[in-house]
Amino acid sequence: MSSQPLLETQNLGRKFGQLQVLSGFDLTVEAGEILGLIGPNGAGKSTLLSVLGGSVAPSTGKIFFEGEDVTRKSAAWRARHGIATSYQIPRPFVDMTVLENVLVAASFAGALFGHQAQALAVSSLERAGLTAFSNDPASSLRLLDRKRLEVARALAANPRLLLLDEIAGGLTEAEVPVLVELVRSVAASGVTVIWIEHVVHALTAVATRLLCLTYGKILAEGDPQEVLDSPEVRSVYLGMAPDDENEFSAAAAKTKRARAQGTNA
Ligand SMILES: Nc1ncnc2c1ncn2[C@@H]1O[C@H](COP(=O)(O)OP(=O)(O)OP(=O)(O)O)[C@@H](O)[C@H]1O
Ligand SMILES: [Mg+2]
Repeated sequence: MSSQPLLETQNLGRKFGQLQVLSGFDLTVEAGEILGLIGPNGAGKSTLLSVLGGSVAPSTGKIFFEGEDVTRKSAAWRARHGIATSYQIPRPFVDMTVLENVLVAASFAGALFGHQAQALAVSSLERAGLTAFSNDPASSLRLLDRKRLEVARALAANPRLLLLDEIAGGLTEAEVPVLVELVRSVAASGVTVIWIEHVVHALTAVATRLLCLTYGKILAEGDPQEVLDSPEVRSVYLGMAPDDENEFSAAAAKTKRARAQGTNA
């Protein structure tokens, strides 16, 4: 394995007006990691992902991807060169079929045409478990499958880094594990993942490292269980609504049990 990290940020910062949303943010992500990102509302998680994906420009600092300075590269350029993003609210082209939606992504972000685009689209749908719906209109998909379509569209850009922003949002408890398995299999196929999620147990089921962000800075990072147990992180979550604390405590307990049983789920 090369010693060069897949992604590195140096002194990354972003201001919106007078609001310093990210500051002095140094992050290194190695190929093969599934980095979970947690933090209270407004902590700057989505801003960080947007800055990494290129849809928001940083006010300060630099971003290196595979050793190349991509700080000034557009989101479209980054999508074509290995960085793809999936968002919480799926935005499929509703008048197109499921396959056509992924074909558009393969053509534009994947920069492929003809048979090559078709082949990548078909394999992306297969990876996302959507082959059976290929010819259905995207508008007919239930929420879980629209989320999978969002991931399939990102996979059609052939990414080496996949950025996920709250893709489990709005799903039922029974549906969340389906998405967790999808992320696990995408990562197993060699894609590095950074995943923001409020559904903490979804993250801890697959994350190899957890990072907690508050006020645009790293509060704690490292082994998921140690981060969840850390007094700093607990105090941040104890300051939240009782439901969030319950979700948080349940995730911490579940991860602890899984570790005790020698599993990662
Ligand atoms: N385009 C923007 N213009 C002005 N302020 C913004 C913009 N985008 C984000 N902010 C502000 O930056 C702060 C961080 O927002 P961000 O969306 O990154 O937080 P988050 O950690 O993703 O929160 P959540 O958990 O609610 O999704 C918030 O105070 C938000 O209002
Ligand atoms: Mg957000």
